Amino acid sequence: MTTKIMILNGPNLNMLGTREPEIYGSETLSDVEAICAKRAEQLGAVVDFRQSNIEGELVTWIQEARTSVQGIIINAAAYTHTSVAILDALNTCDMPIIEVHLSNIHQRESFRHETYIARVADGMICGLGSHGYELAIEAVIRRLDGRI
Ligand code: DQA
Repeated sequence: MTTKIMILNGPNLNMLGTREPEIYGSETLSDVEAICAKRAEQLGAVVDFRQSNIEGELVTWIQEARTSVQGIIINAAAYTHTSVAILDALNTCDMPIIEVHLSNIHQRESFRHETYIARVADGMICGLGSHGYELAIEAVIRRLDGRI
């Protein structure tokens, strides 16, 4: 069975490419999606790549992930630092969960240092731009294989 990974992106990530490029770079979210699809294919997996500006929609998608995929990669964007609802939804998922951020949140404002997602994630990658998503795909697969 092909491994399926849900990749969730939170608010304002649809603006990548034009949004604060000095922090987030020039790649668009479509570019990131293409990078993820290619890396997943190389590793024999497929990705279900989504973005929403709405907290509840992300919660609904996480609930859907429980029965439709084998792993979750999440960049919850600003909801990382605020959302108990997303944390609670992730806590119902018995599968690898990797948190990703394009920027290094620990080098930024102190309110970005706190992450609710980290309480449930197997691991977190930040500061490596879109490459972090590629590393996260590899991490989910290794976790499923029992190699990490
Ligand atoms: C982000 C970091 C968050 O603090 C911020 O709110 C984002 C993007 C990142 O990918 O670096 O929207 O998750």
